[in-house]
Amino acid sequence: MKKVRMGIIGAGLRSGIAKHWHDPNGESVVVGVADISEERLEKFKENINPDVFATTDYRELLKLEDIDAVAITSPDHLHEEHAIAALEAGKHVYCEKPLAITVEGCDRIIETAERTGKHLMVGFNMRYMNMYQTMKGIIDSGVLGDLKAVWVRHFVGYGGYFYYHDWHGNSKNTTSLLLQKGSHDIDVIHWLTGQYTKKVTAFGSLDYYGGDKPNSLTCPECDLKDTCPDYSPHTLIECAFREEIDVEDNNMVLMELEGGIKASYLQCHFTPDYQRNYVFIGTKGRMENSELDGKIYVKTRKSNSWQENSDVVYEMKKTTGGHGGADPKICRDFINLVLYNKQPLTSPSAGRMSVAVGCAATESIRAGGKVIDISQESTVTNI
Ligand SMILES: NC(=O)c1ccc[n+]([C@@H]2O[C@H](COP(=O)([O-])OP(=O)(O)OC[C@H]3O[C@@H](n4cnc5c(N)ncnc54)[C@H](O)[C@@H]3O)[C@@H](O)[C@H]2O)c1
Repeated sequence: MKKVRMGIIGAGLRSGIAKHWHDPNGESVVVGVADISEERLEKFKENINPDVFATTDYRELLKLEDIDAVAITSPDHLHEEHAIAALEAGKHVYCEKPLAITVEGCDRIIETAERTGKHLMVGFNMRYMNMYQTMKGIIDSGVLGDLKAVWVRHFVGYGGYFYYHDWHGNSKNTTSLLLQKGSHDIDVIHWLTGQYTKKVTAFGSLDYYGGDKPNSLTCPECDLKDTCPDYSPHTLIECAFREEIDVEDNNMVLMELEGGIKASYLQCHFTPDYQRNYVFIGTKGRMENSELDGKIYVKTRKSNSWQENSDVVYEMKKTTGGHGGADPKICRDFINLVLYNKQPLTSPSAGRMSVAVGCAATESIRAGGKVIDISQESTVTNI
């Protein structure tokens, strides 16, 4: 195979990454797309490839023998069905995060990939961002000593717009936003420490979004649109204060990882600013990032080595491409996996473990903070 012929399931916002795969003179080309919405299919044709095979039934896409690989960018609760069907049809699969909305769902996908011998890659694009790759390099250099404590705060400014105006706000589609949004952060905690979580306890609640508005209400037709702080006129227009919303909008998770590492994770969807703040503390030093300043600060303590003489500030270089330059890189890595069997920075096992922690933390929240052990059973073990 010299060129990977790709199909996309789910032509919504995330399907924009297909532009990184549609390169008729390069090593991949997008030849098919499936979505239940005709409108979304038309938009996809306009944006990516007007000659693409388009269908409202993803099974028709999977029947095409000349498609080698499928990217799954449908809503989370459909990843399991779509990924398994694609693998069974003999396609390699790139699946957006979260891999599935249950641990059992992840295990079924991984088992199908192993049985069919097809590649499965999870869309953890944070692993491809300059900032988190640099933080990984700093930790691996040993300058922080043995990691013992991690503190992550995710301020999801615009969280209302992206998560409460459509399917994301209902637990039947996501389990909770700890999987949806948090699966990235939980994965980065696992990846940077090199350890998986053993147990969690968590507290959280729905304090700002949700309410008693009818499920059918949309922003453009709402009487309160002139005064509502969450009025949203385009694309994501379902009322953010509708009855069916049942996923927590602020969460605090405490995690115990292998190797005696403790981690805490805060996610809040009604903050004014958008940023992730990560702190890693080891026996020799402390590292903290600022996404807003594009900087990583490393402070060292007395260690009887040259490193105690200086603290270091890393400045991120400018990147181009979505998500801090990560999207073109992760798309290229999927092609390298399919064509050259080059292992990407992510693994199905890591996808499964972040879902396991997100699900356990959600269970803990909904059981009043109960400590939950993380199911470690998986057929794949690489982090
Ligand atoms: N890695 C990242 O940075 C990142 C960023 C955004 C979204 N995502 C992930 O991408 C996925 C899609 O998110 P989105 O924001 O594009 O959502 P979206 O709602 O904009 O798009 C989902 C699309 O799937 C379609 N769809 C629904 N049911 C379908 C079915 N049965 N068959 C085919 N298509 C169907 C919808 O019509 C819609 O067009 C989610 O899992 C999300 O977590 C990842």
